[in-house]
Amino acid sequence: MKHLLSIDDLSTDEVQQLFETAADMHDVQRRDVKKLPALRGRTVVNMFFEDSTRTRSSFEIAGKWLSADVINISGKGSSTSKGESLRDTVLTVCAMGVDGLVIRHPASGAAHQVSQWVDAAVVNAGDGTHEHPTQALLDAYTLQRHLGSLDGRHVAIIGDLTHSRVFRSNVQCLTKLGARVTVVAPPTLMPSGIATWSAAAGFETSYDLDEVLRGAGVHGRPDAVMMLRVQRERMSGAFFPSAREYTVGYGLTRDRLALLDPEVPICHPGPMNRGLEIAADAADAAQSVVLEQVSSGLAVRMAVLYHLLAGDLQGQQGDVA
Ligand code: NCD
Repeated sequence: MKHLLSIDDLSTDEVQQLFETAADMHDVQRRDVKKLPALRGRTVVNMFFEDSTRTRSSFEIAGKWLSADVINISGKGSSTSKGESLRDTVLTVCAMGVDGLVIRHPASGAAHQVSQWVDAAVVNAGDGTHEHPTQALLDAYTLQRHLGSLDGRHVAIIGDLTHSRVFRSNVQCLTKLGARVTVVAPPTLMPSGIATWSAAAGFETSYDLDEVLRGAGVHGRPDAVMMLRVQRERMSGAFFPSAREYTVGYGLTRDRLALLDPEVPICHPGPMNRGLEIAADAADAAQSVVLEQVSSGLAVRMAVLYHLLAGDLQGQQGDVA
């Protein structure tokens, strides 16, 4: 694996190998001294042209705990705000001898484009509404820790699917691992062409959240639910009449929480719109794994950097623990 641009870049075995490394990295997180020498002498640049809290900081901590030299560049404050092209910015940074480039950009396809220009290993940390592979890996890793295996398990993904790269990467990752997936959204936030994609990829779609949570759909009751943020910053018009109406139809409210078995994990990639797509009762419930997703994210991102920059995923895996 030279880059991680899409979940499609990984075989099922490679995903499981990454998870094994992530489990070792998780152990490192529990130590007093959290440093491993694996990436000593390597340089990783995080280039974030969109806002981020957890993805950017976890990539930064991941690189540092692996002893890489890490620098952060954001759109604001870099020469892109003076009109420099993405290509010139990336080539400039890579001329300094960068080994890994973690990039988040509002344009779908940006990470793939960047990977054509540079020798560094490129990690897609979210490209527009297209993909966010490390988020899908950390979601699946978290769920696998709760459910044992994802094979045959039913995961319901609910929310603003049209604008969600998390959904697009998750459908690929979860189905690769054998999960049965139902995606739920209001008609205005269901991506166009989803009927063709869902038929080809083998996942279900629904407009009726209550029916899915009650288990009345094809896959029965969900073993996990994943709530997605309403991405207002990507909306150019009105996709639903009011916030209240969205919550009534598609929010994980206190009443809907009561439909779930108490051990069913509730995921959200964050940041959460409390009171809109998820009620505080659900976000803070004992079965919420939102903060666990964050710590798993660090372990998974350490594993990704480790495999890209220190080892080959098909073997050669050093002793990371
Ligand atoms: C997601 C993203 O940026 O795509 N967040 C994240 O990476 N934690 C989802 C979102 O912004 O809603």
